[in-house]
Amino acid sequence: VDKNNNKKNDKNVKKFYELDHHERLEFLKKDAHLTDQDLKIFQDFPKNFEFNKVNNMIENAIGFVPIPLGIATNFIINRRKYLIPMAIEEPSVIAAASKAAKIAGIKGGFLAEADNSIMIGQIQLISRDKRNDKDKFLDKEERERIKKIILNNKEKLLEIANSKSRSVHAIDLQIREISDESINKIGYMIIIELIIDTKDAMGANVINTMCELIAPELEKITKCTVILKILSNYSTKRMARCKAIFPKEMIGGSKGVERILYAFAFAYSDIYRAVTHNKGLMNGIDGVAMATGQDVRAIEASAHAYASKDGKYRSLTKWYKSKEGDLVGEIEIPLAIGIVGGITSVHPYVKISLKILKIKKVKELALIMVAVGLAQNFAAIRALADEGIQKGHMKLHARNIAITAGATDDEQINIIASKLVQENNVTVNKAKEIIELINKNEN
Ligand code: MEV
Repeated sequence: VDKNNNKKNDKNVKKFYELDHHERLEFLKKDAHLTDQDLKIFQDFPKNFEFNKVNNMIENAIGFVPIPLGIATNFIINRRKYLIPMAIEEPSVIAAASKAAKIAGIKGGFLAEADNSIMIGQIQLISRDKRNDKDKFLDKEERERIKKIILNNKEKLLEIANSKSRSVHAIDLQIREISDESINKIGYMIIIELIIDTKDAMGANVINTMCELIAPELEKITKCTVILKILSNYSTKRMARCKAIFPKEMIGGSKGVERILYAFAFAYSDIYRAVTHNKGLMNGIDGVAMATGQDVRAIEASAHAYASKDGKYRSLTKWYKSKEGDLVGEIEIPLAIGIVGGITSVHPYVKISLKILKIKKVKELALIMVAVGLAQNFAAIRALADEGIQKGHMKLHARNIAITAGATDDEQINIIASKLVQENNVTVNKAKEIIELINKNEN
C-alpha cells in the first residue's frame, strides 16, 4: 500500500481505497502494530449493518464506532406522549432529560412548534472583469444593473432550479450584495439566494444540486462569474421553539427558582458560561439527532451561530418566573433535519429510532428535539444551582470505573460503585483495591 499516496510510487501498489476489508485491516495491523485481538472489533458486524453497508456510506471504511442508545421517558409534547431514543456516550444525560420531562409533565408538558422546512442555497457571483483588476462591481450602478437582469429572469431561474426535483421546490429567489470584509478587500459580490422548501428532507443534496443547476444560466445572463454554489447551514427560516413550566414546589420553592434565574443571568450575560450552558442543551438535541441519523455538525454550527445573533454569544434558552412563581423555560433554535433521504432510509438503527418515535413528519422530530433540549438545560441548571452535578454524575461514572477496574457481574459493579462514591474517591486504583478485598474475603 502506498501510505503517503505518493504518485511516483509503483503503479502496482494499491491505494488504501482500493484494498478490500481484509487487506485494509492487514495494512493497519502492520502499520500500527495491532494484534489479531485488536482487529476483532472490526470483524464482527451486526446483522443489517455489514461491512458492505458501512463501506457504501463512507470512504476507506474499516468498521464503526458504537455509541450507546437509550430511551428518554416521561415526555409529553403538545399533549402527546413520546419515548425518545437518544444516542450518547455521556452518562446522566438521559436520566436528567427524563427527570426534567417528568417535572414539566405536572403542568402539561412541553408546548412546541416548528416552521416549515425552508432552507437557503447561495450562489456567489463576481464581476468577470475582476482578473484584469477592473472590478466593474465597484460601481453601484453596475451592481444594480446585474441585479435587475437576475430578477427579470427569476421565473426562468426557478424553473431551471426545479427541473430535476419532484417533491422539493425552490419557491423564491432573492439577491443580496456583500463586500469583502477580510484583509484581502477584493470588493463586491452579488449573492443569489434560492429559497427552497425541502419538506421532510434536511435538503443539503437537493439544495446544492439546484444551486449548481442555475449557475451556468446566471453566468450566461449576467456575463459575470459564479464562484461558490452551496446551501447555507445557517437555517434561520427553519426555527423550532418550545416552552414548558416547571412548578416551584419541585425545585426548592421560590428560592430554588431564584437560584435558577441567577444561573440563566450568568449564561445570558457571559460567553464563557453561555457556551457551557448551550453545550448542555445540545447534549439533548445531539442525542436525538444521533439516534435519528441527522447531520449533527450542521445542527451545531447553526445553533451556535444563532446564539450570537445579536452580536454577542448568549444562552439559547430563556428562563423567567410566571405570575404564580413557577419557573418558565423557552428555547428557540434553527433545526435543519430530515426523516427522508440521507442515511435515514439506509441506516437500520436510524429507521428503528424513527419508528419508536412514531412520527410521520419532520416537524414532529423538530418539536421533540427542542423539547429534549429544553429539558436537558433545565436539568443541568437545576442541578448546578443546587447540589452541583458531580454527585449524580459520579454515581454513573463510578460504574464505568468499576468495570474498567475489572468488575464483571452487576452486583459487584453496584457494590464497588457505591463504595467509590461513598468514599468520594472514584478512581480505577481505588476500584481495584476494593475488588482485591472482595476476592480475598471470598477466598
Ligand atoms: C455537561 O455535559 C453539561 C453541563 O456542563 C451543562 C451546563 O453546565 O449547563 C452540565
